[in-house]
Amino acid sequence: MNIQGKVIVITGGASGLGAATAAYLQQQGARVVIVDMNASLGEQTGQEIGAEFIKLDVTDEKAVESFFAHIQEKYGQLNGLINCAGIAPSAKVLGRDGLHALDMFQTVLNINVSGTFNMLRYAAQLMSQYALSGEEEERGVIVNTASVAAFDGQIGQAAYSASKGAVVGMTLPLARELAREKIRVMTIAPGIMETPMLKGLPQNVQDALGQMVPFPPRLAKPEEFAKLVGHIFENSYLNGEVIRLDGAIRMAPK
Ligand code: NAI
Repeated sequence: MNIQGKVIVITGGASGLGAATAAYLQQQGARVVIVDMNASLGEQTGQEIGAEFIKLDVTDEKAVESFFAHIQEKYGQLNGLINCAGIAPSAKVLGRDGLHALDMFQTVLNINVSGTFNMLRYAAQLMSQYALSGEEEERGVIVNTASVAAFDGQIGQAAYSASKGAVVGMTLPLARELAREKIRVMTIAPGIMETPMLKGLPQNVQDALGQMVPFPPRLAKPEEFAKLVGHIFENSYLNGEVIRLDGAIRMAPK
């Protein structure tokens, strides 16, 4: 897909991977709309990169429906959705302070899985209405964000790994179904990324984490995620697959 002038929505766009991707795609000529629960950071990021920001909880069915009605009304089309909104709390099943709370498990699944799915079903509907012109081959691209924790989750990541495993699992059936609409679906499984979450850790801890990566022995830059998203948009033959972006790391049990 040539992203020039295309309308692309990015969830979790206020921060980290979403913000870096928004900046990159906007720079490449796309019309980017970022959504996030964090309104103050979202406004700030939106202003910095010159993209529209809308406060949105991706798990809120009514709000998400109204959001896509707004996109249709304002832009008249949608060609891309990048789901970056997510949370990553950790807890042991048999923790020091008691059993893993069931509501915490459900919250992680709700945001990381249902939130992703809620966004993509409305996005696919709007993308399917896009009228192809000239040489255009495809209507839309959906990129979801999993994690290497989908494959090698650590102790304490039962909820997070289950949620990311679900994102991996829905990739192929979605790609197969939406092929009819000329919409591709891809998932990226990042390793250890240098986002605000990790930048908050002491430098020696960041360095130690980086040394666990075979090559290059450092944390990944959010721009490296953004460039992969850009490539997925450009390369029409990438579909129904999960790409690890991880410097060959395989996470240890803890
Ligand atoms: P981040 O915390 O910097 O950004 C996530 C954004 O999602 C935040 O701005 C937050 O406000 C937003 N968000 C959370 N719940 C939301 C909801 N219900 N509705 C709308 N927005 C919501 O995190 P980061 O590092 O950029 O992570 C992005 C994605 O990448 C997440 O899905 C995360 O699980 C995944 N990931 C991150 C890795 C890392 O090392 N940072 C590694 C592997 C995966």
